[in-house]
Amino acid sequence: PETGCLSIIVLGASGDLAKKKTFPALFNLYRQQGFLNPDEVHIFGYARTKISDEELRDRIRGYLVDEKNAEQAEALSKFLQLIKYVSGPYDSEEGFQRLDNAISEHEISKNSTEGSSRRLFYLALPPSVYPSVCKMIKTCCMNKSDLGGWTRIVVEKPFGKDLESAEQLSSQIGELFDESQIYRIDHYLGKELVQNMLVLRFANRFFLPLWNRDNIENVQIVFREDFGTEGRGGYFDEYGIIRDIIQNHLLQVLCLVAMEKPISLKPEHIRDEKVKVLQSVVPISDDEVVLGQYEGYRDDSTVPNDSNTPTFATTILRIHNERWEGVPFILKAGKALNSRKAEIRIQFKDVPGDIFKCQKQGRNEFVIRLQPSEAMYMKLTVKQPGLEMNTVQSELDLSYGQRYQGVAIPEAYERLILDTIKGDQQHFVRRDELKVAWEIFTPLLHRIDKGEVKSIPYKPGSRGPKEADQLLEKAGYLQTHGYIWIPPTL
Ligand code: BG6
Repeated sequence: PETGCLSIIVLGASGDLAKKKTFPALFNLYRQQGFLNPDEVHIFGYARTKISDEELRDRIRGYLVDEKNAEQAEALSKFLQLIKYVSGPYDSEEGFQRLDNAISEHEISKNSTEGSSRRLFYLALPPSVYPSVCKMIKTCCMNKSDLGGWTRIVVEKPFGKDLESAEQLSSQIGELFDESQIYRIDHYLGKELVQNMLVLRFANRFFLPLWNRDNIENVQIVFREDFGTEGRGGYFDEYGIIRDIIQNHLLQVLCLVAMEKPISLKPEHIRDEKVKVLQSVVPISDDEVVLGQYEGYRDDSTVPNDSNTPTFATTILRIHNERWEGVPFILKAGKALNSRKAEIRIQFKDVPGDIFKCQKQGRNEFVIRLQPSEAMYMKLTVKQPGLEMNTVQSELDLSYGQRYQGVAIPEAYERLILDTIKGDQQHFVRRDELKVAWEIFTPLLHRIDKGEVKSIPYKPGSRGPKEADQLLEKAGYLQTHGYIWIPPTL
Protein backbone atom coordinates (compact mmCIF):
# COMPACT_ATOMS: atom_id res chain seq x y z
CA PRO A 1 0.00 0.00 0.00
CA GLU A 2 0.96 3.60 -0.51
CA THR A 3 2.34 5.51 2.41
CA GLY A 4 3.01 9.15 3.12
CA CYS A 5 0.82 12.10 3.67
CA LEU A 6 -2.89 11.71 2.97
CA SER A 7 -5.29 14.66 3.08
CA ILE A 8 -9.02 14.06 3.06
CA ILE A 9 -10.93 17.21 2.33
CA VAL A 10 -14.66 17.19 3.04
CA LEU A 11 -16.35 20.00 1.16
CA GLY A 12 -19.72 20.89 2.57
CA ALA A 13 -18.38 19.87 5.96
CA SER A 14 -21.27 21.17 8.00
CA GLY A 15 -24.00 19.68 5.81
CA ASP A 16 -26.18 16.66 6.36
CA LEU A 17 -24.33 14.14 4.21
CA ALA A 18 -21.00 15.02 5.81
CA LYS A 19 -22.33 14.75 9.35
CA LYS A 20 -24.42 11.65 8.87
CA LYS A 21 -22.28 9.63 6.48
CA THR A 22 -18.85 10.99 5.60
CA PHE A 23 -17.41 11.81 9.02
CA PRO A 24 -18.84 8.70 10.72
CA ALA A 25 -17.35 6.55 7.95
CA LEU A 26 -13.97 8.25 8.35
CA PHE A 27 -14.11 7.77 12.08
CA ASN A 28 -14.85 4.07 11.73
CA LEU A 29 -11.96 3.66 9.32
CA TYR A 30 -9.76 5.49 11.77
CA ARG A 31 -10.77 3.27 14.67
CA GLN A 32 -9.95 0.14 12.72
CA GLN A 33 -6.20 0.04 12.97
CA GLY A 34 -4.24 0.72 9.87
CA PHE A 35 -6.93 2.09 7.60
CA LEU A 36 -6.28 5.70 8.43
CA ASN A 37 -2.87 6.05 9.93
CA PRO A 38 -2.83 9.08 12.28
CA ASP A 39 0.79 9.76 11.35
CA GLU A 40 -0.20 10.28 7.75
CA VAL A 41 -3.77 11.47 7.67
CA HIS A 42 -5.17 14.89 8.03
CA ILE A 43 -8.82 15.77 7.51
CA PHE A 44 -10.00 19.15 6.34
CA GLY A 45 -13.50 20.50 6.41
CA TYR A 46 -14.42 23.28 4.01
CA ALA A 47 -17.72 25.16 3.87
CA ARG A 48 -19.09 28.67 3.74
CA THR A 49 -20.08 29.03 7.38
CA LYS A 50 -17.50 30.91 9.40
CA ILE A 51 -16.78 28.67 12.37
CA SER A 52 -13.68 27.54 14.20
CA ASP A 53 -12.06 24.08 14.12
CA GLU A 54 -13.55 23.46 17.53
CA GLU A 55 -17.05 24.41 16.44
CA LEU A 56 -16.95 22.04 13.49
CA ARG A 57 -15.78 19.26 15.82
CA ASP A 58 -18.67 20.01 18.15
CA ARG A 59 -21.14 19.85 15.30
CA ILE A 60 -20.10 16.42 14.16
CA ARG A 61 -19.16 14.86 17.49
CA GLY A 62 -22.69 13.71 18.31
CA TYR A 63 -22.98 11.80 15.02
CA LEU A 64 -19.86 9.74 15.54
CA VAL A 65 -20.27 7.67 18.67
CA ASP A 66 -22.06 7.14 21.83
CA GLU A 67 -19.84 9.26 24.05
CA LYS A 68 -20.69 7.19 27.08
CA ASN A 69 -18.66 4.44 25.53
CA ALA A 70 -15.33 5.26 27.19
CA GLU A 71 -13.18 3.33 24.76
CA GLN A 72 -14.67 5.12 21.78
CA ALA A 73 -14.58 8.48 23.54
CA GLU A 74 -10.81 8.38 23.64
CA ALA A 75 -10.50 7.46 19.97
CA LEU A 76 -13.04 10.13 19.19
CA SER A 77 -11.12 12.94 20.75
CA LYS A 78 -7.94 11.88 18.95
CA PHE A 79 -9.84 11.63 15.67
CA LEU A 80 -11.40 15.06 16.08
CA GLN A 81 -7.95 16.55 16.57
CA LEU A 82 -7.09 15.45 13.03
CA ILE A 83 -9.77 17.73 11.65
CA LYS A 84 -9.09 21.31 10.61
CA TYR A 85 -11.63 23.70 9.22
CA VAL A 86 -11.29 26.29 6.50
CA SER A 87 -14.20 28.49 5.51
CA GLY A 88 -14.79 30.11 2.16
CA PRO A 89 -17.16 30.31 -0.79
CA TYR A 90 -17.42 27.56 -3.40
CA ASP A 91 -16.48 29.79 -6.27
CA SER A 92 -13.60 31.92 -5.08
CA GLU A 93 -9.93 31.26 -5.66
CA GLU A 94 -9.13 33.09 -2.49
CA GLY A 95 -10.91 30.52 -0.32
CA PHE A 96 -9.43 27.55 -2.14
CA GLN A 97 -5.99 29.14 -1.99
CA ARG A 98 -6.30 29.18 1.78
CA LEU A 99 -7.44 25.59 1.68
CA ASP A 100 -4.41 24.68 -0.40
CA ASN A 101 -2.12 26.47 2.04
CA ALA A 102 -3.59 24.52 4.93
CA ILE A 103 -3.15 21.22 3.10
CA SER A 104 0.37 22.06 1.97
CA GLU A 105 1.40 23.08 5.46
CA HIS A 106 0.41 19.69 6.71
CA GLU A 107 2.16 17.96 3.80
CA ILE A 108 5.34 19.85 4.50
CA SER A 109 5.33 19.28 8.21
CA LYS A 110 4.74 15.56 7.72
CA ASN A 111 7.05 15.48 4.77
CA SER A 112 10.12 15.40 6.96
CA THR A 113 9.48 11.68 7.24
CA GLU A 114 7.75 10.65 4.02
CA GLY A 115 7.06 12.72 0.97
CA SER A 116 3.67 12.33 -0.65
CA SER A 117 0.79 14.52 -1.62
CA ARG A 118 -2.33 12.37 -1.74
CA ARG A 119 -5.43 14.54 -1.85
CA LEU A 120 -8.94 13.20 -1.67
CA PHE A 121 -11.72 15.74 -2.19
CA TYR A 122 -15.09 14.55 -0.99
CA LEU A 123 -17.85 16.75 -2.38
CA ALA A 124 -20.62 16.50 0.20
CA LEU A 125 -22.37 19.25 -1.72
CA PRO A 126 -25.33 19.77 -4.02
CA PRO A 127 -24.36 19.00 -7.64
CA SER A 128 -25.18 22.55 -8.71
CA VAL A 129 -21.82 23.60 -7.28
CA TYR A 130 -19.78 20.61 -8.57
CA PRO A 131 -18.52 22.43 -11.66
CA SER A 132 -17.32 25.52 -9.82
CA VAL A 133 -15.82 23.53 -6.96
CA CYS A 134 -14.01 21.24 -9.40
CA LYS A 135 -12.69 24.26 -11.22
CA MET A 136 -11.36 25.73 -7.96
CA ILE A 137 -9.73 22.47 -6.96
CA LYS A 138 -8.10 22.19 -10.35
CA THR A 139 -6.86 25.78 -10.21
CA CYS A 140 -5.72 25.97 -6.61
CA CYS A 141 -5.57 22.62 -4.85
CA MET A 142 -3.96 19.93 -6.98
CA ASN A 143 -1.42 17.62 -5.34
CA LYS A 144 2.13 18.87 -5.38
CA SER A 145 3.72 16.95 -8.18
CA ASP A 146 7.23 17.17 -6.73
CA LEU A 147 5.92 15.17 -3.79
CA GLY A 148 4.07 12.65 -5.96
CA GLY A 149 0.72 11.31 -4.89
CA TRP A 150 -2.58 12.07 -6.58
CA THR A 151 -5.77 14.12 -6.56
CA ARG A 152 -9.13 12.36 -6.53
CA ILE A 153 -12.68 13.69 -6.50
CA VAL A 154 -15.58 11.91 -4.84
CA VAL A 155 -19.10 12.89 -5.89
CA GLU A 156 -22.54 11.56 -5.23
CA LYS A 157 -25.92 11.69 -6.89
CA PRO A 158 -28.05 13.37 -8.05
CA PHE A 159 -25.91 13.49 -11.18
CA GLY A 160 -28.33 15.63 -13.16
CA LYS A 161 -32.05 15.18 -13.64
CA ASP A 162 -32.11 13.58 -17.05
CA LEU A 163 -29.79 12.50 -19.82
CA GLU A 164 -29.04 15.98 -21.04
CA SER A 165 -28.32 17.59 -17.67
CA ALA A 166 -26.28 14.57 -16.56
CA GLU A 167 -24.17 14.66 -19.70
CA GLN A 168 -23.63 18.36 -19.26
CA LEU A 169 -22.41 17.81 -15.70
CA SER A 170 -20.21 14.93 -16.80
CA SER A 171 -18.53 16.98 -19.49
CA GLN A 172 -18.00 19.96 -17.20
CA ILE A 173 -16.22 17.74 -14.68
CA GLY A 174 -14.62 15.69 -17.44
CA GLU A 175 -12.87 18.74 -18.83
CA LEU A 176 -11.09 19.19 -15.53
CA PHE A 177 -10.40 15.66 -14.35
CA ASP A 178 -9.66 12.29 -15.93
CA GLU A 179 -12.16 9.52 -15.42
CA SER A 180 -9.55 7.75 -13.28
CA GLN A 181 -9.68 10.67 -10.82
CA ILE A 182 -13.47 10.74 -10.50
CA TYR A 183 -15.27 8.49 -8.02
CA ARG A 184 -19.06 8.53 -8.44
CA ILE A 185 -20.57 6.98 -5.35
CA ASP A 186 -23.65 4.83 -5.46
CA HIS A 187 -23.72 3.68 -1.89
CA TYR A 188 -25.66 0.52 -2.78
CA LEU A 189 -22.46 -0.75 -4.37
CA GLY A 190 -20.88 -0.63 -0.93
CA LYS A 191 -23.42 -2.95 0.69
CA GLU A 192 -22.13 -6.36 1.72
CA LEU A 193 -24.61 -8.44 -0.20
CA VAL A 194 -24.39 -6.29 -3.29
CA GLN A 195 -20.64 -6.80 -3.28
CA ASN A 196 -21.28 -10.48 -2.84
CA MET A 197 -23.21 -10.80 -6.11
CA LEU A 198 -20.16 -11.31 -8.25
CA VAL A 199 -18.80 -14.04 -6.00
CA LEU A 200 -22.12 -15.73 -5.68
CA ARG A 201 -22.76 -15.83 -9.39
CA PHE A 202 -19.35 -16.64 -10.70
CA ALA A 203 -17.76 -18.74 -7.98
CA ASN A 204 -20.58 -21.27 -7.63
CA ARG A 205 -21.37 -24.10 -9.97
CA PHE A 206 -24.95 -24.24 -8.69
CA PHE A 207 -26.03 -21.07 -10.36
CA LEU A 208 -24.19 -21.29 -13.67
CA PRO A 209 -26.68 -23.47 -15.53
CA LEU A 210 -29.75 -21.93 -13.90
CA TRP A 211 -29.09 -18.23 -14.33
CA ASN A 212 -30.98 -17.62 -17.54
CA ARG A 213 -34.32 -17.37 -19.36
CA ASP A 214 -34.69 -21.15 -19.53
CA ASN A 215 -35.01 -21.39 -15.76
CA ILE A 216 -35.85 -18.00 -14.36
CA GLU A 217 -39.41 -16.73 -14.67
CA ASN A 218 -38.90 -13.22 -13.28
CA VAL A 219 -36.58 -11.10 -11.17
CA GLN A 220 -37.63 -8.51 -8.63
CA ILE A 221 -35.41 -5.88 -7.11
CA VAL A 222 -37.26 -4.19 -4.33
CA PHE A 223 -36.62 -1.25 -2.04
CA ARG A 224 -39.14 -0.33 0.65
CA GLU A 225 -39.03 2.25 3.37
CA ASP A 226 -41.55 2.57 6.16
CA PHE A 227 -41.15 6.31 6.46
CA GLY A 228 -41.91 9.18 4.12
CA THR A 229 -39.84 12.07 2.85
CA GLU A 230 -39.73 13.73 6.27
CA GLY A 231 -37.86 16.96 6.08
CA ARG A 232 -36.59 16.37 2.55
CA GLY A 233 -39.84 17.10 0.70
CA GLY A 234 -38.37 20.04 -1.18
CA TYR A 235 -35.44 18.05 -2.53
CA PHE A 236 -37.47 14.96 -3.12
CA ASP A 237 -40.25 16.66 -5.03
CA GLU A 238 -37.85 17.73 -7.74
CA TYR A 239 -36.55 14.20 -8.15
CA GLY A 240 -39.08 11.56 -7.19
CA ILE A 241 -38.50 7.91 -6.40
CA ILE A 242 -37.24 6.89 -9.85
CA ARG A 243 -34.36 9.39 -9.76
CA ASP A 244 -33.83 8.90 -6.03
CA ILE A 245 -33.65 5.10 -5.93
CA ILE A 246 -34.48 3.22 -9.12
CA GLN A 247 -32.31 4.83 -11.80
CA ASN A 248 -29.24 4.46 -9.60
CA HIS A 249 -29.40 2.04 -6.66
CA LEU A 250 -31.75 -0.57 -8.11
CA LEU A 251 -30.34 -0.35 -11.61
CA GLN A 252 -26.85 -0.98 -10.26
CA VAL A 253 -28.15 -4.08 -8.54
CA LEU A 254 -29.84 -5.16 -11.76
CA CYS A 255 -26.50 -4.90 -13.56
CA LEU A 256 -24.87 -7.26 -11.11
CA VAL A 257 -27.71 -9.76 -11.36
CA ALA A 258 -27.93 -9.69 -15.13
CA MET A 259 -24.45 -9.02 -16.49
CA GLU A 260 -22.28 -11.58 -18.20
CA LYS A 261 -19.12 -12.86 -16.56
CA PRO A 262 -16.35 -10.28 -16.81
CA ILE A 263 -13.04 -11.26 -18.37
CA SER A 264 -11.35 -10.67 -15.03
CA LEU A 265 -11.90 -8.89 -11.75
CA LYS A 266 -10.30 -5.71 -13.02
CA PRO A 267 -12.62 -2.76 -12.38
CA GLU A 268 -12.69 -1.87 -16.07
CA HIS A 269 -13.65 -5.39 -17.09
CA ILE A 270 -16.47 -5.48 -14.58
CA ARG A 271 -17.77 -2.09 -15.58
CA ASP A 272 -17.60 -3.01 -19.26
CA GLU A 273 -20.06 -5.83 -18.60
CA LYS A 274 -22.37 -3.58 -16.61
CA VAL A 275 -22.51 -1.11 -19.46
CA LYS A 276 -23.30 -3.88 -21.94
CA VAL A 277 -26.26 -5.14 -20.01
CA LEU A 278 -27.63 -1.62 -19.62
CA GLN A 279 -27.27 -1.10 -23.35
CA SER A 280 -29.45 -4.16 -23.91
CA VAL A 281 -32.39 -2.74 -21.95
CA VAL A 282 -35.28 -1.85 -24.26
CA PRO A 283 -37.37 1.34 -23.81
CA ILE A 284 -39.81 1.11 -20.91
CA SER A 285 -43.40 0.89 -21.98
CA ASP A 286 -46.01 2.95 -20.10
CA ASP A 287 -48.21 -0.06 -19.44
CA GLU A 288 -45.35 -1.62 -17.50
CA VAL A 289 -45.16 1.26 -15.04
CA VAL A 290 -47.24 1.97 -11.96
CA LEU A 291 -46.57 5.15 -10.01
CA GLY A 292 -47.87 6.04 -6.58
CA GLN A 293 -47.83 8.93 -4.17
CA TYR A 294 -48.66 8.41 -0.52
CA GLU A 295 -51.51 10.38 0.98
CA GLY A 296 -50.16 13.19 3.09
CA TYR A 297 -47.01 13.67 0.98
CA ARG A 298 -48.26 17.08 -0.20
CA ASP A 299 -48.87 18.26 3.38
CA ASP A 300 -45.17 19.13 3.49
CA SER A 301 -45.05 22.89 3.00
CA THR A 302 -42.17 22.58 0.55
CA VAL A 303 -44.18 20.30 -1.74
CA PRO A 304 -46.55 21.93 -4.28
CA ASN A 305 -50.23 21.08 -3.81
CA ASP A 306 -50.57 19.62 -7.27
CA SER A 307 -47.36 17.59 -7.23
CA ASN A 308 -47.40 14.45 -9.41
CA THR A 309 -44.01 13.33 -8.06
CA PRO A 310 -44.02 9.59 -7.41
CA THR A 311 -42.98 8.34 -3.98
CA PHE A 312 -43.59 4.80 -5.23
CA ALA A 313 -42.90 3.15 -8.55
CA THR A 314 -42.93 -0.28 -10.09
CA THR A 315 -41.29 -0.45 -13.49
CA ILE A 316 -40.52 -3.47 -15.60
CA LEU A 317 -37.28 -3.55 -17.54
CA ARG A 318 -36.73 -5.96 -20.40
CA ILE A 319 -33.27 -7.01 -21.43
CA HIS A 320 -32.91 -7.87 -25.07
CA ASN A 321 -30.15 -10.44 -25.11
CA GLU A 322 -29.65 -14.16 -25.36
CA ARG A 323 -29.70 -14.75 -21.63
CA TRP A 324 -32.70 -12.66 -20.63
CA GLU A 325 -35.11 -12.27 -23.52
CA GLY A 326 -38.63 -12.59 -22.08
CA VAL A 327 -37.67 -12.35 -18.40
CA PRO A 328 -39.18 -9.31 -16.69
CA PHE A 329 -36.91 -7.43 -14.31
CA ILE A 330 -39.31 -5.77 -11.93
CA LEU A 331 -37.83 -2.77 -10.13
CA LYS A 332 -39.95 -1.54 -7.29
CA ALA A 333 -39.29 1.22 -4.77
CA GLY A 334 -41.48 3.07 -2.36
CA LYS A 335 -41.54 5.37 0.63
CA ALA A 336 -44.06 5.28 3.48
CA LEU A 337 -44.84 1.60 2.95
CA ASN A 338 -45.60 -1.15 5.46
CA SER A 339 -42.02 -2.33 5.92
CA ARG A 340 -38.38 -1.43 5.45
CA LYS A 341 -36.29 -3.78 3.37
CA ALA A 342 -34.29 -4.18 0.21
CA GLU A 343 -34.04 -7.48 -1.58
CA ILE A 344 -33.47 -9.33 -4.82
CA ARG A 345 -36.04 -12.03 -5.50
CA ILE A 346 -35.39 -14.48 -8.28
CA GLN A 347 -38.38 -16.62 -9.10
CA PHE A 348 -37.80 -19.84 -11.02
CA LYS A 349 -40.11 -21.41 -13.56
CA ASP A 350 -42.54 -24.16 -12.75
CA VAL A 351 -41.32 -27.76 -12.78
CA PRO A 352 -42.34 -29.26 -16.12
CA GLY A 353 -44.81 -32.14 -15.80
CA ASP A 354 -45.01 -31.51 -12.07
CA ILE A 355 -46.56 -34.45 -10.20
CA PHE A 356 -46.79 -32.41 -6.98
CA LYS A 357 -48.37 -29.42 -8.58
CA CYS A 358 -51.75 -29.57 -6.85
CA GLN A 359 -50.23 -29.54 -3.35
CA LYS A 360 -47.51 -26.92 -3.80
CA GLN A 361 -47.44 -23.55 -2.07
CA GLY A 362 -45.26 -21.84 -4.63
CA ARG A 363 -42.30 -21.84 -6.92
CA ASN A 364 -38.62 -22.01 -6.13
CA GLU A 365 -37.27 -18.62 -5.24
CA PHE A 366 -33.82 -17.43 -4.43
CA VAL A 367 -33.94 -14.35 -2.24
CA ILE A 368 -31.03 -12.09 -1.39
CA ARG A 369 -31.93 -9.83 1.47
CA LEU A 370 -29.71 -6.77 1.25
CA GLN A 371 -31.07 -5.18 4.41
CA PRO A 372 -31.94 -5.27 7.19
CA SER A 373 -30.63 -8.63 8.51
CA GLU A 374 -28.49 -9.63 5.55
CA ALA A 375 -29.38 -13.09 4.33
CA MET A 376 -29.88 -15.32 1.35
CA TYR A 377 -32.37 -18.08 1.29
CA MET A 378 -33.65 -20.53 -1.27
CA LYS A 379 -37.27 -21.40 -1.07
CA LEU A 380 -37.84 -25.01 -1.95
CA THR A 381 -40.49 -27.64 -1.63
CA VAL A 382 -39.77 -30.56 0.69
CA LYS A 383 -41.78 -33.37 2.16
CA GLN A 384 -43.63 -32.25 5.22
CA PRO A 385 -41.92 -34.22 8.01
CA GLY A 386 -44.25 -36.88 9.34
CA LEU A 387 -46.18 -39.93 8.28
CA GLU A 388 -48.13 -38.32 5.48
CA MET A 389 -46.72 -37.72 2.03
CA ASN A 390 -47.44 -34.01 2.01
CA THR A 391 -45.28 -31.22 0.70
CA VAL A 392 -44.36 -27.95 2.29
CA GLN A 393 -42.40 -24.87 1.31
CA SER A 394 -39.18 -24.54 3.31
CA GLU A 395 -35.82 -22.87 2.87
CA LEU A 396 -32.06 -23.24 2.80
CA ASP A 397 -31.06 -20.24 4.78
CA LEU A 398 -27.79 -18.37 5.05
CA SER A 399 -28.51 -15.63 7.54
CA TYR A 400 -25.41 -13.58 8.16
CA GLY A 401 -26.21 -12.68 11.78
CA GLN A 402 -26.30 -16.36 12.62
CA ARG A 403 -23.61 -17.72 10.35
CA TYR A 404 -21.08 -14.93 10.92
CA GLN A 405 -21.63 -14.18 14.56
CA GLY A 406 -19.51 -11.39 15.87
CA VAL A 407 -18.47 -10.24 12.41
CA ALA A 408 -19.24 -6.57 11.99
CA ILE A 409 -20.50 -5.77 8.53
CA PRO A 410 -18.95 -2.47 7.44
CA GLU A 411 -21.10 0.46 6.42
CA ALA A 412 -21.29 1.10 2.69
CA TYR A 413 -19.57 4.47 2.98
CA GLU A 414 -16.63 3.05 4.95
CA ARG A 415 -15.82 0.57 2.25
CA LEU A 416 -16.27 3.03 -0.55
CA ILE A 417 -14.09 5.70 1.02
CA LEU A 418 -11.42 3.11 1.63
CA ASP A 419 -11.61 2.17 -2.06
CA THR A 420 -11.12 5.80 -3.07
CA ILE A 421 -7.97 5.91 -0.98
CA LYS A 422 -6.73 2.67 -2.51
CA GLY A 423 -7.63 3.82 -6.01
CA ASP A 424 -10.02 0.96 -6.72
CA GLN A 425 -12.88 2.09 -8.97
CA GLN A 426 -14.71 -1.21 -9.21
CA HIS A 427 -17.58 -0.13 -6.99
CA PHE A 428 -18.02 3.28 -8.56
CA VAL A 429 -20.15 4.32 -11.49
CA ARG A 430 -18.28 5.01 -14.70
CA ARG A 431 -19.31 7.88 -16.92
CA ASP A 432 -20.63 5.72 -19.77
CA GLU A 433 -22.57 3.62 -17.26
CA LEU A 434 -24.25 6.71 -15.89
CA LYS A 435 -25.11 7.85 -19.38
CA VAL A 436 -26.88 4.61 -20.32
CA ALA A 437 -28.69 4.57 -16.97
CA TRP A 438 -30.13 7.97 -17.85
CA GLU A 439 -30.94 6.88 -21.39
CA ILE A 440 -33.12 4.12 -20.00
CA PHE A 441 -35.20 6.32 -17.73
CA THR A 442 -35.21 9.76 -19.34
CA PRO A 443 -38.16 9.29 -21.75
CA LEU A 444 -40.34 7.95 -18.93
CA LEU A 445 -39.21 10.69 -16.54
CA HIS A 446 -40.07 13.36 -19.06
CA ARG A 447 -43.55 11.91 -19.50
CA ILE A 448 -44.01 11.89 -15.71
CA ASP A 449 -42.76 15.46 -15.41
CA LYS A 450 -45.30 16.52 -18.03
CA GLY A 451 -48.05 14.77 -16.08
CA GLU A 452 -48.64 12.19 -18.83
CA VAL A 453 -48.12 9.32 -16.42
CA LYS A 454 -49.97 9.87 -13.16
CA SER A 455 -49.17 8.86 -9.62
CA ILE A 456 -51.93 6.87 -7.93
CA PRO A 457 -52.57 7.79 -4.27
CA TYR A 458 -51.88 5.12 -1.64
CA LYS A 459 -52.23 4.93 2.10
CA PRO A 460 -49.06 5.44 4.11
CA GLY A 461 -48.15 2.16 5.79
CA SER A 462 -49.70 0.07 3.01
CA ARG A 463 -48.14 -2.07 0.24
CA GLY A 464 -48.52 0.79 -2.23
CA PRO A 465 -51.17 1.01 -4.98
CA LYS A 466 -52.95 -2.28 -5.71
CA GLU A 467 -52.29 -1.64 -9.41
CA ALA A 468 -48.63 -2.45 -8.68
CA ASP A 469 -49.50 -5.93 -7.44
CA GLN A 470 -51.69 -6.41 -10.50
CA LEU A 471 -48.79 -5.46 -12.74
CA LEU A 472 -46.60 -7.98 -10.96
CA GLU A 473 -49.14 -10.68 -11.55
CA LYS A 474 -49.48 -9.71 -15.18
CA ALA A 475 -45.70 -9.95 -15.52
CA GLY A 476 -45.91 -13.56 -14.36
CA TYR A 477 -44.94 -13.31 -10.71
CA LEU A 478 -46.70 -15.96 -8.68
CA GLN A 479 -47.06 -15.18 -5.02
CA THR A 480 -46.33 -18.01 -2.59
CA HIS A 481 -49.26 -18.80 -0.32
CA GLY A 482 -49.10 -19.78 3.32
CA TYR A 483 -45.35 -19.33 3.73
CA ILE A 484 -43.26 -16.57 5.17
CA TRP A 485 -39.57 -16.58 5.77
CA ILE A 486 -38.75 -15.99 9.40
CA PRO A 487 -35.19 -14.83 9.99
CA PRO A 488 -33.57 -17.22 12.49
CA THR A 489 -32.96 -15.80 15.92
CA LEU A 490 -29.59 -16.22 17.56
C1 BG6 B 1 -30.58 7.56 -0.68
C2 BG6 B 1 -31.89 8.18 -1.02
O1 BG6 B 1 -29.76 7.54 -1.82
O2 BG6 B 1 -30.79 6.23 -0.23
C3 BG6 B 1 -32.82 8.16 0.18
O3 BG6 B 1 -31.70 9.52 -1.43
C4 BG6 B 1 -32.93 6.76 0.75
O4 BG6 B 1 -34.10 8.62 -0.18
C5 BG6 B 1 -31.54 6.15 0.96
O5 BG6 B 1 -33.60 6.84 1.99
C6 BG6 B 1 -31.66 4.68 1.34
O6 BG6 B 1 -30.40 4.18 1.66
P1 BG6 B 1 -30.27 2.91 2.61
O7 BG6 B 1 -28.81 2.62 2.63
O8 BG6 B 1 -30.83 3.30 3.93
O9 BG6 B 1 -31.09 1.84 1.98
